[in-house]
Amino acid sequence: MQGTFYVIGVGPGDPELMTLKAARILERCPVWFAPSAFKNGESMALKIAEGEVSSRGKTILTHHFPMKQVHRGREPDPEVDGAWREAAEIITGHLKAGNDVVFPTLGDPAIYSTGFYVCETLQKCSGTDIVIKIIPGVSAIGASSAAAGLPLCLGDERLIVIPATFENGRMREVLAHSDTVVFMKVHKVMDKIVRLLDELNLTDNAVLVERSSLGDQKIWRNIRDAVGKDIHYFSTILVRKQ
Ligand SMILES: C[S@@+](CC[C@H](N)C(=O)[O-])C[C@H]1O[C@@H](n2cnc3c(N)ncnc32)[C@H](O)[C@@H]1O
Repeated sequence: MQGTFYVIGVGPGDPELMTLKAARILERCPVWFAPSAFKNGESMALKIAEGEVSSRGKTILTHHFPMKQVHRGREPDPEVDGAWREAAEIITGHLKAGNDVVFPTLGDPAIYSTGFYVCETLQKCSGTDIVIKIIPGVSAIGASSAAAGLPLCLGDERLIVIPATFENGRMREVLAHSDTVVFMKVHKVMDKIVRLLDELNLTDNAVLVERSSLGDQKIWRNIRDAVGKDIHYFSTILVRKQ
C-alpha cells in the first residue's frame, strides 16, 4: 500500500510548542523529509523536531529550497520550481515503496510554508490519489504576540499578515486598512520597514520579536535600534495601531 505524506508544523522553535500529534507522527514515520534554506542542508525545522523526537533509525533527508520570492498567480522562478519538482519526485519514490513520509515545517504549514508548494507539486506530478495530511502548528505569529504581551486583534479589529520583502506600496496599503499588521521575513529589510513606519508615524507602535520562544528570544520595543544589526531570520514585527 502507498504511504501517506504528512506536512506537520513544528512550531516557532521551542520543541515544547510542538503538538502531541506532530510528535506522534514524527515517531511513527520512517522517512523524514526536511526543508533547508541552505545549500549545506541545515534544516531549522529538523532541528526543532529532533529537540523533541529522536531521529535514530529514521531515514533523514534534507532538501534545499532556494529562498526566492514567489508571486502567487505568476510562474515560479525555474530554480524554485525545480526544487519543488525534485522534492516531489523523491517523496513519491518513498510513498510508492509503502513508506509514510513526514515533512516538518517551521511554525504552521498554512503560513508561508514550502510544505503547501510541495503538496501542490506532488498532486500535479504524481496524481491526486496521493494521500496528504496537514497537521497545524503554533505559528511564529502567535508566539511573537505572546512574547511581546500584545494581542493581535480584539473586538472588531482587523489583522493582516504580510511578508516584508515585497513592494512598499502593498505594505503601505495594508497599514492603512488594518488595526494590526504582522510583518514576517523582516531580517534583511529593517531599514526599509523603519523608513516606511517613520513616514506613517507608526514606528512607536511596532515591536520586533527575535527568536520567539527560544532561550535567546529578544524583544525590541524600539525597532530603530535593530537597523544595521545582524538580526536573526526568526524575526517578526507586530504593528498595533491602537
Ligand atoms: C517562511 S516564514 C514561515 C512562517 C511559519 N510557517 C509560521 O507559521 O510561523 C519564516 C518567517 O517566520 C517568522 N518566524 C519564524 N520563526 C520565528 C520565531 N521563532 N520568532 C519570530 N519570528 C519567527 C519570521 O518572520 C521568518 O522570517
